[in-house]
Formats: sequence, C-alpha cells, structure tokens
Amino acid sequence: MANGKLVFTQNIATSLQEYCDKCKYENLIFIVDTNTKKYCLPFFKTFSNKIIEIKAGEQYKNLSTYTFIIEKLLTFNVSKDTLIVNLGGGVVSDIGSFASATFRRGIAFVNIPTTLMGMSDAAIGGKNGIDFKFKKNYLGTFVLPQKVFISTQFLSTLPIKEYESGLAEIIKTGIIANKQLFKAIEKNEAIDYLIEQCAETKNAIVKKDFEDNGIRQLLNYGHTIGHALESYRLSIGKPIKHGFAVAKGLLAESKMAYTMGKISHSDYMRITKVVTTLTHQKPLTENEFLRLKEWLKSDKKNKNSHIVFSLPEGIGKGSIQNEIAETRLHKLIFS
Ligand SMILES: NC(=O)c1ccc[n+]([C@@H]2O[C@H](COP(=O)([O-])OP(=O)(O)OC[C@H]3O[C@@H](n4cnc5c(N)ncnc54)[C@H](O)[C@@H]3O)[C@@H](O)[C@H]2O)c1
Repeated sequence: MANGKLVFTQNIATSLQEYCDKCKYENLIFIVDTNTKKYCLPFFKTFSNKIIEIKAGEQYKNLSTYTFIIEKLLTFNVSKDTLIVNLGGGVVSDIGSFASATFRRGIAFVNIPTTLMGMSDAAIGGKNGIDFKFKKNYLGTFVLPQKVFISTQFLSTLPIKEYESGLAEIIKTGIIANKQLFKAIEKNEAIDYLIEQCAETKNAIVKKDFEDNGIRQLLNYGHTIGHALESYRLSIGKPIKHGFAVAKGLLAESKMAYTMGKISHSDYMRITKVVTTLTHQKPLTENEFLRLKEWLKSDKKNKNSHIVFSLPEGIGKGSIQNEIAETRLHKLIFS
C-alpha cells in the first residue's frame, strides 16, 4: 500500500531491489532528467531499465513535459507489475509523481530523491504537480509514493548552488516546526543528520494533515513570497532556483513577522544570519518586490482578496492563515 514511508539507506540499489522482490515489481520505468541520467542512473546498473528522460530545470515542469511522459508511458507495456521510479530532484519527483498518479487513474511509484531539496522535502508528502502559465504547482494531486528511498550517496555530484538551495527548505522546517533542527543547523551538524531530522519532521506533519487543511500549511512559510518570485522569474525567462526563492521569501516573511510583533529582534537576527550565511541569498529589494505584486494576487492560497502567509512565532513554531492586505506588505517588509 502507498504510505510514503521513508527508507534511509546507503545502499540504494540493494534497497530498491529488495523492495521490488517483496512487492513483485518486475517492470521498472525510471524517470530521470538529463543530469540524473548521467550522475544517478549508474547506481542502478543491475536493473534492466526502461527510461524516460526529461530536460533538467523548473522551466520544464510543465504541461508539455507531462504530455511527453504520458506519451512515453503509452509506448511501454504498463501493467500491474510496473513500478515508476522517480530518480531526481524536486522537478522529477513532482512531475513524475503527477504522471504516475494520473496515468490510467494511477500506477505505483516510488521517489528516489537525488538533491538535498528532494531528500529533505520535495520527494516527501505526496504533493505533486506541474506549473501552468508560470504559476507554481497549479495542476496537481495529493498522492503518496509507495516509498521514498533517501540516500545521501547522490550528494557527491550535486553542484554547490543546488546544495545551498536545498538548505533553504531545511532551515525553513527548523524555524517553523522544529527548534532542535534549527539549533543543529546553527551548530553546523552533519548533513545526514539534518536531512533525517527535516524529512522526519515533514513526514510527521504530513501524517497529521495530508490534504493541507491545517498544520501542514506551516510548511508554506517563505513560499508566498518565494513562489511569486519564482513565477515572476519564470515569466521573464530567468528562472531562480526554488530554494533561493524560498530563502528570499524566508527573509521577507520573517521581517513581516518581526514588524507585526510575532518574533523578537534576536530571533529575527538568528533567522537572518542562518539564511544569508548558508544560502548566500540577500533580502528582496524594493524594486524586485514591486514586480511580484501581480503574482501575489494570483496565489492559490488567497482568501477574501487578502494574501495568506504562514509566519514564525519564535523559533520552532509558527501560525498559519495570516491574511494580509496586499497594500500593507510593502510597509511590513521595508519599514
Ligand atoms: N512536492 C513538494 O512537496 C515540494 C517541496 C519542495 C519543493 N518542490 C519542488 O521541487 C522543485 C525544486 O527541486 P530541486 O531543487 O531538487 O530542483 P531540480 O529537480 O531542478 O534539481 C536541481 C538540479 O540538480 C540536478 N541534479 C539532481 N540530482 C543531481 C545529482 N545527484 N548530481 C548532479 N546534479 C543533480 C538536476 O538535474 C537539476 O539541474 C521545485 O519545482 C519545487 O516546486 C516540491
């Protein structure tokens, strides 16, 4: 049964093989992107792989790549013993899971994240989908993978910028939901430990609120501004890495929380220090902010023509459903 259980392993091929043997999956289809085909697929030499290769990058998490995957699936003999293996970062797991969840009303799939972003966040929790007309994750479903196999073996080839991008989501989870995790980040603890803590924290939240009606929304912290920035940058043909957009979102939304009296000055400084030092992102400029307005107005979460934010209320806790008029935002972020 699909339960999205996390399997931490340092021997990824063996773990996958054991799982397939147990569940009698004999027909594996790997969804990869150009980079994970080169760097990550060689870990699975013992499998006689059918492969669907998509182009790497957020700009390809769209309807035409989705259609491309579905067309490819039609050419393979998909049956009850077929398992889709989404081998890649958040783009591959989002679009691969969406294709798996919708092809013939759903076929079995597992996620094998290969980026820090994927291991600590994107591959977990069953939210999947694609961008539409530059709007982030506008088409999608909630369907859990059978399993998520997490192996830090893949990190050795990950470019440093992708690593820094992934750190943004780990920092977010620490600030909004796990004080110990945030302290461990501040103390520069080993990355394997941070990934495990972050992944388990997200998984525990997802178990409580799978369909995102309550506590799961905490994880949207940094994403209202972050997604607007990503959409804007996609629309002008200059995509920004998801984690970098989130990092700028964390900085802006923390400033809002501080101006609104939700967090102390010292917590605000701690957050700012960790985000800027580890992701090397600077706060949003006023000029950048002005360009986001239109995108903020079309955020999926908007309510009563207000923009909805999840904001920290200290380290390790936060609040959801903060409805704020768009006209107040400039003052809250830049005063
Ligand atoms: N569904 C969710 O809950 C959720 C949560 C967070 C983020 N996301 C989504 O995840 C996406 C971002 O994910 P991402 O940051 O992993 O980006 P990504 O999937 O684009 O991967 C980043 C880059 O790293 C390359 N790469 C991947 N693994 C590699 C490896 N081991 N070695 C070398 N190169 C490798 C990829 O080809 C790509 O160029 C966004 O679309 C975001 O919306 C989804």
